[in-house]
Amino acid sequence: MSQAPTVLVTNIGELVTPVGPGPRRGPAHGHVRRLPDAALAVRGGHIIWVGPRAEWSGQADGEVDVGGRVVLPGLVDPHTHAVWAGDRLDDFEARARGTAYEEILAAGGGIYHTVRRTNDADDAALIALAAGRLRRLARSGATTVEVKSGYGLEIEAELRLLRVIGRLHQEVESHVVPTLLVHVPPKEERDTYVEAVIGRLLPTVAREGLAQAVDIFVEREAFSVAEAERVLRAALAHGLAVKLHADQFHAIGGVELGVRLGALSVDHLEASGEAQIAALASSSTVATILPGVSLHLGLPPAPGRALVDAGAAVAVGTDLNPGSSPLFSAQLALALAVRLNGLTPAEALVAATVNAAAALGLQDRGRLEPGCRAHLLVLNSRDWRDLAYTLGADDLIAHIIVEEEML
Ligand code: NIG
Ligand code: FE
Repeated sequence: MSQAPTVLVTNIGELVTPVGPGPRRGPAHGHVRRLPDAALAVRGGHIIWVGPRAEWSGQADGEVDVGGRVVLPGLVDPHTHAVWAGDRLDDFEARARGTAYEEILAAGGGIYHTVRRTNDADDAALIALAAGRLRRLARSGATTVEVKSGYGLEIEAELRLLRVIGRLHQEVESHVVPTLLVHVPPKEERDTYVEAVIGRLLPTVAREGLAQAVDIFVEREAFSVAEAERVLRAALAHGLAVKLHADQFHAIGGVELGVRLGALSVDHLEASGEAQIAALASSSTVATILPGVSLHLGLPPAPGRALVDAGAAVAVGTDLNPGSSPLFSAQLALALAVRLNGLTPAEALVAATVNAAAALGLQDRGRLEPGCRAHLLVLNSRDWRDLAYTLGADDLIAHIIVEEEML
């Protein structure tokens, strides 16, 4: 029987990895293993051995020499809205002149504007736009990227977006994880809409396997806790995992609902306070912070430091979207989590790797350990902390390796 070839990634100046699957919390949140002069063996898309280079005694069919550089796990971006058409440049300018994001949304612009532009675009245009964005995220180190629907609004339009997302893997090397996002209610007949989501959208998504998780935006200008609870309980009944956009502008109970329902993650948390931090610390739900939103909208940063100190598992994502976070770099999201949210570089690395994977229900990536997928970053540096330190350098990441493809 022929076996897949073994490839040895060698001459690694420093190999750095979280230890064990996510979600990591407490002291493990800030712990990474640093292994100097290391090597790593890959077979069939998985890591089969990691250790000091001098200790490799196996037979390799090929070698990749990384020239003494740092090797890290590929980053996981657990929160993007990468499929949209049109732009939000008018909103951007209006906000610069003092109009609030929520005001624009309440007036039927913002997300609703992007819904109209997205529904006007055909599948080929949406795929080309999204693939370009995912390639930029890959260059920033993201080897797994979650992509949400959410700019369709109508039931058929949301299904179309999920089918578009399902085709993106043909265009890009990074792994794409699709999520159904129930984003905002229509301006009229919202009860009918919630019924249609429950009665038609969720069963189709579950039956066709279009997503493994359902997300909903709980906010004054979006869905209430009661509406979200109905949608998410129906999702759970179909065997789908759940997650929420919660506490972005107001802490109205989204976090508590997520914790109660055993959500994979609650995301945003810019308005979270002590009660929400305590609820997350005593739950299995990952707290996903999105520093690009604080930067772009000028919101208070989510309390990353307090969450880690309380014992919550924190993940970090770009929230790539046209309205609240036009951030095309997973590395920069990690670096901003140190500046804006008070994480240490090691905590931020754990947040962007194993904890981000856990926010997607994945345990097989985000760390360089035997059995995990061979998703690697090669850093143009000899000290891994450059990953958290550097802002805006396009040559920081030398390569990403996704399975055996070196890019
Ligand atoms: O994660 N908060 C809701 N949804 C997105 C923004 C989408 C948009 O503004 O187009 C977010 O911030
Ligand atoms: Fe979002």
